[in-house]
Amino acid sequence: MDIIEKNKQRMFKLSSQSPHLAKQVEELDWSELESALEECIFNKNEIGLPKDYGPATYFPLLPESTEQNELYKKAYQHGESLIRAGKTAAFTVAGGQGTRLGYDGPKGTLPVTPIKKKTLFQLFAEQILGLSEKYEIIIPWYIMCSPLNLHATVTHFRENNFYGLGEENLRFFAQGVMPATDFEGNLLLASMDSLALSPNGHGGSLKALIDSGSIADMAKRGIEHVSYFQVDNPLVTILNPLFIGLHDLQKSDMSSRSLTKTGPFEKLGNFVSIGDRVTIIEYSDLPEEKALETEDDGRIKYRAGSPAIHVLRCDFIEQFARGENKLPYHRAEKKVSFINEKGELIEPHEPNAVKFETFVFDALPMAKNPLILEADRREEFSPVKNKTGVDSLESSMEDQIKKAHRWLSQHNLSIPENTTIEICPRSYPSFVDTEKIDLQEEDLTEDKIYLTKFSV
Ligand code: UTP
Repeated sequence: MDIIEKNKQRMFKLSSQSPHLAKQVEELDWSELESALEECIFNKNEIGLPKDYGPATYFPLLPESTEQNELYKKAYQHGESLIRAGKTAAFTVAGGQGTRLGYDGPKGTLPVTPIKKKTLFQLFAEQILGLSEKYEIIIPWYIMCSPLNLHATVTHFRENNFYGLGEENLRFFAQGVMPATDFEGNLLLASMDSLALSPNGHGGSLKALIDSGSIADMAKRGIEHVSYFQVDNPLVTILNPLFIGLHDLQKSDMSSRSLTKTGPFEKLGNFVSIGDRVTIIEYSDLPEEKALETEDDGRIKYRAGSPAIHVLRCDFIEQFARGENKLPYHRAEKKVSFINEKGELIEPHEPNAVKFETFVFDALPMAKNPLILEADRREEFSPVKNKTGVDSLESSMEDQIKKAHRWLSQHNLSIPENTTIEICPRSYPSFVDTEKIDLQEEDLTEDKIYLTKFSV
């Protein structure tokens, strides 16, 4: 392709002045760039909607028949036996740039809990500790960062003594990057010394799991299933026995949780079925007439939205190493500062560049026997994406408190409504199974309760 040749010539010329740029240019995967340009610039990323699709079917949150009730019970036990046997691992994607939040540091180091101000990473670590204690097994945790935040992330964990999980049970690695180009496909320079590079999207996690040796490490440990979740959702249940059990019993390559959308146009990816396969159509791509279709009972047909919680089989991920499967690139038009022909730094006010990203949910249509299990949004999803308003730190904290109130009232403990409650995630796994709880309260003041442990 001419544009690749043109880019090569320009970059080799410019890099004669800078060893750093020369190294970047040498390491650049030109054939990958060619695919990205082909898909996103010259074909304008017409990934296109599948032809014959319908709303995806999913397992409801609560069983709706005696048969389903039996299946859920069996699946729950099966899921627990997989966790107990050490066949499951936790996997967090934490390589995003968090531009909407604008927090200075890896997003996982953001304090998010209402009383103790625990960071996202601490919340997940303590939940994993609780699971390890309950199932008496080590649950390894894989954390994907980007080259931009890997060092800061590892430093954070080291400073916190790996939150008691043991350094050997954690694995940090960086995802790949892609260069940004202008709308004609010309590479952009962030400085005279460097290409404008950015993380290649959460879809990069599949290849990064392989390239980093994480999948090989999982094989050594006997791990068969990976629980995938995003770094910015404090409510996530890291290992849900019912979900994992259904996923394995149905021999699914990749399974997903779904949420019932609040309305036809909620900004969540939509699960759809194409024959026996599942895919996600982004909210902006679902045609309006489809979004508005309803069932006889008045519910919208395309109501299953994605909170980005998945379980993947390790041997399915391996297919991305062997090139049997490849994720398509998506085009994201962004403002990217760049050096112009005269060597001046230009800071654009309008999107001027294309970033190339892959999305993990594009693996779904490649997965055999995909399965979706509905989740209760209030229990599972309240991400920290924005500075204020919807999906902000404030809204997520409120949702954490409401969840804690619900849990306590389910255990017949009445706490005044305006009390701020925080429950230590280390005790979550036991909460689920326990009928009656006698609380031991720590740090109890008039309007705040922090619950660390309890006895039955
Ligand atoms: P988002 O799509 O919310 O992107 O990522 P972001 O970069 O965190 O935030 P904005 O859009 O710049 O405001 C969803 C999840 O995917 C991870 C993020 O860390 C988050 O957990 N992610 C995203 C990656 O790991 N790598 C990427 O290249 C992009």
